[in-house]
Amino acid sequence: MESRTSLESRTIITDLVLPSETNPIGNMFGGELLARMDRAAGIAARRHSRRVVVTASVNHVAFNKMIPLGSVVTVEAKVSRAFKSSMEVFMDVWIEDRESGMRSKANEAIYTFVAVDEMGSPVPIPPLKPETELEKERYEAALRRRQLSLVLAKKMDPKDATELKALFQ
Ligand SMILES: CC(C)(COP(=O)(O)OP(=O)(O)OC[C@H]1O[C@@H](n2cnc3c(N)ncnc32)[C@H](O)[C@@H]1OP(=O)(O)O)[C@@H](O)C(=O)NCCC(=O)NCCS
Repeated sequence: MESRTSLESRTIITDLVLPSETNPIGNMFGGELLARMDRAAGIAARRHSRRVVVTASVNHVAFNKMIPLGSVVTVEAKVSRAFKSSMEVFMDVWIEDRESGMRSKANEAIYTFVAVDEMGSPVPIPPLKPETELEKERYEAALRRRQLSLVLAKKMDPKDATELKALFQ
């Protein structure tokens, strides 16, 4: 199968934060952001694999900054590595200042999607070829994150997680 680039899967969703999407102190609910990220990441995974995709795991989410009511929130999702049927999708979340128009990074997250057939069984996907330095970094680290996720899901024996173990040696 011919490889694809991260750029080919790039998906950008920009939307406002409305009152029904905020907590009692006027900031965006975490669950609302998780749902927006799941949508953007799902589209990116679909663009890479050109198959039906399902969320297999939310590997990492960092809610670093509060996102106030009325903010314009942009979720940018790109496939960072493809394995046999699964893909890691990396997301950067930005908010923009109304007056200056400057964007600042609010959050980031990493989800794993699996391409499936009509019966929900995993199917092979094209490999990903990283291009930029950042894409190469994320591609390398994706293997460790996959091992951590599989160990936590009890789908991999910790002793087989060689790249992950190497981090602690
Ligand atoms: C995700 C799913 C398709 C995996 O199916 P499975 O029968 O466990 O298949 P396998 O064990 O062969 O795994 C298939 C791939 O998923 C990956 N995978 C499975 N669980 C994973 C996890 N927790 N983290 C990371 N990758 C995972 C495997 O590593 C494998 O990847 P590879 O083919 O690239 O090597 C299946 O568990 C599923 O359908 N889950 C429900 C998905 C869903 O409904 N999501 C929305 C929730 S509301």
